[in-house]
Amino acid sequence: MLSYGHVLVLLLLPFVSPAGSCTEQEMRSLLQFLAGLSQDIGLTASWHNSTDCCSWEGITCSREGTVAEVSLASRSLQGHISPSLGDLTSLVCLNLSHNSLSGGLPLELVSSSSIVVLDVSFNRLTGGLGELPSSTPHRPLQVLNISSNLFTGLFPSNTWEMMNNLIMLNASNNSFTGPIPTSFCASAPSFAVLELSYNQFSGRIPLGLGNCSMLTLLSAGHNNLIGALPDDIFDITSLKHLWFPNNQLEGSIIGITKLKNLVTIDLGENRLNGSIPNSIGQLKTLEKLNLEYNNMFGELPLTLGNCTKLMTMNLGSNNLSGDLDNVNFSTLGNLRSLDLIWNNFTGTVPESIYSCRNLTALRLSYNRFHGQLSEKIGNLKYLTFLSLVGISLRNITNALQILQNCRTLTTLFIGYNFIHETMPKDDEIYGFENLRVFSLNDCSLTGKIPHWLSKLTNLEMLFLYNNKLNGPVPYWISSLNFLFHIDMSNNSLSGEIPLALVEMPMLQTGNVATKTFELPISRSHSLQYRITSSFPKVLNLGINNFTGMIPNEIGHLKALLLLNLSSNRLSGKIPDSIYNLTNLQVLDLSRNNLNGTIPDALNELHFLSVFNISNNDLEGSVPNVGQLSTFPSNSFEGNPRLCGPMLTQHCDTTETPFVSTKHTNSMIVFMISFGTFFGVGVLYDQIVLSRFF
Ligand SMILES: *[C@@H]1O[C@H](CO)[C@@H](O)[C@H](O)[C@H]1NC(C)=O
Ligand SMILES: *[C@@H]1O[C@H](CO)[C@@H](O)[C@H](O)[C@H]1NC(C)=O
Ligand SMILES: *[C@@H]1O[C@H](CO)[C@@H](O)[C@H](O)[C@H]1NC(C)=O
Ligand SMILES: *[C@@H]1O[C@H](CO)[C@@H](O)[C@H](O)[C@H]1NC(C)=O
Ligand SMILES: *[C@@H]1O[C@H](CO)[C@@H](O)[C@H](O)[C@H]1NC(C)=O
Ligand SMILES: *[C@@H]1O[C@H](CO)[C@@H](O)[C@H](O)[C@H]1NC(C)=O
Ligand SMILES: *[C@@H]1O[C@H](CO)[C@@H](O)[C@H](O)[C@H]1NC(C)=O
Ligand SMILES: *[C@@H]1O[C@H](CO)[C@@H](O)[C@H](O)[C@H]1NC(C)=O
Ligand SMILES: *[C@@H]1O[C@H](CO)[C@@H](O)[C@H](O)[C@H]1NC(C)=O
Ligand SMILES: *[C@@H]1O[C@H](CO)[C@@H](O)[C@H](O)[C@H]1NC(C)=O
Ligand SMILES: *[C@@H]1O[C@H](CO)[C@@H](O)[C@H](O)[C@H]1NC(C)=O
Ligand SMILES: *[C@@H]1O[C@H](CO)[C@@H](O)[C@H](O)[C@H]1NC(C)=O
Repeated sequence: MLSYGHVLVLLLLPFVSPAGSCTEQEMRSLLQFLAGLSQDIGLTASWHNSTDCCSWEGITCSREGTVAEVSLASRSLQGHISPSLGDLTSLVCLNLSHNSLSGGLPLELVSSSSIVVLDVSFNRLTGGLGELPSSTPHRPLQVLNISSNLFTGLFPSNTWEMMNNLIMLNASNNSFTGPIPTSFCASAPSFAVLELSYNQFSGRIPLGLGNCSMLTLLSAGHNNLIGALPDDIFDITSLKHLWFPNNQLEGSIIGITKLKNLVTIDLGENRLNGSIPNSIGQLKTLEKLNLEYNNMFGELPLTLGNCTKLMTMNLGSNNLSGDLDNVNFSTLGNLRSLDLIWNNFTGTVPESIYSCRNLTALRLSYNRFHGQLSEKIGNLKYLTFLSLVGISLRNITNALQILQNCRTLTTLFIGYNFIHETMPKDDEIYGFENLRVFSLNDCSLTGKIPHWLSKLTNLEMLFLYNNKLNGPVPYWISSLNFLFHIDMSNNSLSGEIPLALVEMPMLQTGNVATKTFELPISRSHSLQYRITSSFPKVLNLGINNFTGMIPNEIGHLKALLLLNLSSNRLSGKIPDSIYNLTNLQVLDLSRNNLNGTIPDALNELHFLSVFNISNNDLEGSVPNVGQLSTFPSNSFEGNPRLCGPMLTQHCDTTETPFVSTKHTNSMIVFMISFGTFFGVGVLYDQIVLSRFF
């Protein structure tokens, strides 16, 4: 994708058929390095001092027989990197990436007078990098890849003054602190790639990067940078990739359109404001524009249609407004992904969007559109992801009939539309055979769960919550072999909990296939789902009108993480078989008419972090040790005949409280803290209380 002439030439140097053999000194340096390793997966067999080290595994020598390359990537190496490698005076390329090396990176390697390419990425190296003394002569290093390690501390700033050959620096995915250095710009005339993302760099983006006249990639996303983009950045006309997502940058992006060679802009998740400038149309090579989660306002410039190379445009979660009809999308035939969620656009969904035949992902949710869905959406023959939540659509029958022509759809979110309409009946809908995720929540729809849903045989997630659906859960539900996330809460569903539900294959066992969503699904940007399998296995039937007993067979749903049967009219005992739901993190049975005692076995559900049986008719005592004893009183209250230390009604001391003898102390403490931070924080808040788009 990115090309770097100099380096390629160098790496293609013919290292073949060495004439001489390596020196005693080189052999010693290499053996010292070997001695520093604690695990070397067979290197010892090859690295033997009775043979020429040019023939050793991973070693390449020059024509003169000196060690020129040490290439030991992905060898499962453990232990330390010996500074002795710095004594290899002809070493040009050292590649130790993708191992498990620990300890520091010897400064001797960075300051080597021969090393041109140094790649120690994807290891567990720690400590700081250290500054080179300012007396160091100019070094030949061109490529330094120290990314994906555990480095900490202030990032060097002066060191780079000695690196006047540097072309690429990748220090991403460490924990470096301090300001972004700029000294390479003054000292290294060919400096082209600066990659510092996923660290803890702070302060403003410094002035001085403008002197990096060959820079093609500037990336420092996921740091703590503040302030505006400095003006001199806009002088780096060579720049192709500008990536600063997830910082706290402010101000406008008006200068950006001076960078005529930009291919990708990623400034999402900042505090940028102002409007998207008219001059954006001058970015003729732009392929990706990401400004999501900022404070951008104003209308989309009409000139956007001049960015004909655009493939990805993500402007979600801003304050953009205006009639979207005014923008002509018909010149954006390369567009594959368009995300405008959470803005203030008005008008109808522009027909010209439907001429972007290459669109695979389209998200227009939460804008102030009006009007019907156009039949032309069926033109989008590659569309797999469509999210049209909360855009005041009317006539659900009509909408579904149109959408079923989008045969490739795998993910469809159209909730929070069609308010108070009736769920279409069976003979009207027949498509959607590829759908894997379907959400039709928050529509106050009346009617029954329709039979046409049974034809969605690839369905994995079904969101029907916050409607007014009545009648039973149909028996055919268990024929949806891939369904693992079911949220039908807050409807008027009635009847007994059908045995079909407890036969759902994916809730009993089985792995969810990992498929990547075309756009991440989220409510807040702190929690985004990029793959289907990171959604939990959920059965949420809360707030309905179910009656009868909880079937004992509920114990078959061993894969469930969340079971919510609260606010129904269920009666009888809590079945002992719930004991078998060992993966449960959330169990809510509150607000029913359940009676009897709390089954002892519930105390064995060690992953449970949210537990609620309040407002039932339970009796007896709450266990005073074990997992259940750690939940607060509001998990239990509203059961007048229940007693326990956390309840106003204490148990009679003559009554023998339930005692668990297994898995005490440390195990439980661990599970509780796990539960509190993972379960409660992530699972319950985000899964149960939040809604997805
Ligand atoms: C080679 O290694 C053996 C033992 O590992 C040692 O006794 C010998 O002195 C070494 N020879 C050289 C030339 O380093
Ligand atoms: C180092 O080796 C890895 C694995 O073979 C490779 O992906 C990487 O590109 C190499 N590094 C350099 C700088 O060539
Ligand atoms: C390290 O970075 C260099 C330069 O960008 C690159 O060529 C090399 O492939 C990277 N190493 C790995 C393991 O990706
Ligand atoms: C830097 O390294 C990381 C992996 O550590 C990689 O994901 C990223 O693409 C690299 N950046 C560049 C510009 O090569
Ligand atoms: C960061 O490094 C870790 C450990 O090497 C790796 O698993 C992870 O994929 C890296 N993340 C990125 C964004 O490169
Ligand atoms: C850019 O877009 C505007 C408005 O759509 C149009 O008038 C103008 O001709 C376009 N310029 C170029 C160079 O395509
Ligand atoms: C949308 O615009 C209206 C006025 O046109 C404004 O009152 C409202 O706050 C805006 N909403 C958002 C989410 O920006
Ligand atoms: C869709 O993309 C292909 C290249 O992937 C391109 O050849 C084609 O012209 C695009 N379609 C439209 C309508 O522009
Ligand atoms: C809804 O759409 C269907 C199918 O297009 C149509 O037959 C029906 O009349 C529409 N209903 C209303 C209330 O507009
Ligand atoms: C629940 O079902 C009963 C009849 O079984 C009915 O009278 C009641 O209205 C229903 N409640 C709701 C909220 O649908
Ligand atoms: C719990 O699971 C075991 C093993 O699958 C099974 O034999 C047993 O019947 C289950 N118990 C209940 C009460 O469902
Ligand atoms: C629980 O309620 C059912 C009816 O819903 C009743 O038959 C049973 O006797 C009750 N059990 C207890 C222990 O009160």
